[in-house]
Amino acid sequence: MKTITLLQPDDWHAHLRDGLALKRTVPDLAKQFARAICMPNLVPPVKTVAEAEAYRERIMAHVPEGVAFDPRMVLYFTDHTAPDEIKKIKDSAHVNAIKLYPAGATTNSDNGVSDIRKVYAVIEQLEKYQVPLLLHGEVTHSHVDIFDREKRFLDEVLSPLLKQFPDLKIVLEHITTKEAAHFVLEQDRNVAATITPQHLLFNRNDMLVGGIKPHFYCLPILKRQTHQQTLLEVATSGNPKFFLGTDSAPHAQDAKENACGCAGCYSAPTAIELYAQAFDQAGKIERLEGFASHFGADFYGLARNTNTITLVQEEQTIPAQLDYLDDQQIIPLYAGKTIQWRKV
Ligand code: DOR
Ligand code: ZN
Repeated sequence: MKTITLLQPDDWHAHLRDGLALKRTVPDLAKQFARAICMPNLVPPVKTVAEAEAYRERIMAHVPEGVAFDPRMVLYFTDHTAPDEIKKIKDSAHVNAIKLYPAGATTNSDNGVSDIRKVYAVIEQLEKYQVPLLLHGEVTHSHVDIFDREKRFLDEVLSPLLKQFPDLKIVLEHITTKEAAHFVLEQDRNVAATITPQHLLFNRNDMLVGGIKPHFYCLPILKRQTHQQTLLEVATSGNPKFFLGTDSAPHAQDAKENACGCAGCYSAPTAIELYAQAFDQAGKIERLEGFASHFGADFYGLARNTNTITLVQEEQTIPAQLDYLDDQQIIPLYAGKTIQWRKV
């Protein structure tokens, strides 16, 4: 039986939500990952370092006994973010970055930035203090086709931004297209990207052929197979600009299986095995450790983990459903399907 041992991975993009949801999301994530970037799109959003510290305490209250888990916090960028909040991030022990959602781009993004040129005073501070700007990279104009929104963001928002702020540290989150992959490759070392398990393992046919499958619906939306192929190539290339970020995002079954279903795939409980599946299918399992356990920490300027995990090549069936909140369920990514890797 094939086994691999790697430094414990980190998840550089996860949604844990708040309140009762933490009972589900924190143990699921903490049994896989040593650290996670905890996305701030709560209702209301996490807008200041003080709010992020309070949210972190609520998360810590759900870490299982004997498990070491270090939530890394992020602020939610709004039109009203104060420039001096950025120095507070730099000085904080727990907050590592700020997340920019273009207003209206995705779940709980209504308070996002309406026009990036309005917040250049804050971006100046990000560049000065080398605090990473995490980007949901999609334009939101209603006339732009949903499959083109990432590419248009690169041309219309990100290129001009980098011209103005060439040393800005940027993570282009959950990239989904070959254009985004190539864009990141062409930039200097200050621009990196996260890639989700769903964008490595699936494409829009999985979501749409033979009936619409709402549990594959996330944003940015799954693209065509040629894009999936490029994402697999860059993720498994050993290039440190690309690292693990699940974008694991819980929504109750009712909210997904709905005439207006929510965007988000819940992958937290088996995320590292899903990535192992993707890397193995590409014949590059030996490249998993860099992607999952080295490159993200290096980019954020944090120490690499020192403990290890072991994965065995052995079938596991992903649960059909998981309990969520008081009386609801989540259907996890690839529910009921069998994959070839299992964390021991
Ligand atoms: O699919 C998504 N779900 N994409 C996002 O950007 C947000 C996330 C969520 O919070 O549900
Ligand atoms: Zn996300």
